[in-house]
Amino acid sequence: MAVFKLKINGKTQEVDVAEDTPLLWVLRDHINLVGTKYGCGIAQCGACTVHIDGKAMRSCSLPISGMEGKSITTIEGLSENGDHPVQQAWLKHDVPQCGYCQAGQIMSAAALLKENSNPNDDEIDLAMNGNICRCGTYLRVKAAIKTAAKMG
Ligand code: FES
Ligand code: FES
Repeated sequence: MAVFKLKINGKTQEVDVAEDTPLLWVLRDHINLVGTKYGCGIAQCGACTVHIDGKAMRSCSLPISGMEGKSITTIEGLSENGDHPVQQAWLKHDVPQCGYCQAGQIMSAAALLKENSNPNDDEIDLAMNGNICRCGTYLRVKAAIKTAAKMG
């Protein structure tokens, strides 16, 4: 066990965990940020997507030992009032079905739009490719990303 100092959603937090503990476990079990979901645990589904220094990454596969000094943002920290353009567009298009994958979808979409404010269909497909939705909300996800891009 070791103490790690983390910057999560703009706040500094300390956790005392084994150094190979995945960030996802720290978020959910130690800091009680449970919006980030556990799907596959092997970087294949995207349910656990968070931003690390602004980039969409799979928190299930990031050992906590590599996270010091990085800026970590979870779905809880994406916006203060749930009104990030992507979140507004998600509401407008009523995107979620069961909801399980949606925090990951939103975090991937927000990271995409930060890098590319007006992505075309291929760019959206490429960026969202690793976010699996067992409910098949893909068409609404894509429509909502286009709406969010217009809201800019
Ligand atoms: S739980 Fe991390 S990618 Fe599936
Ligand atoms: S909304 Fe159910 S898994 Fe995506």
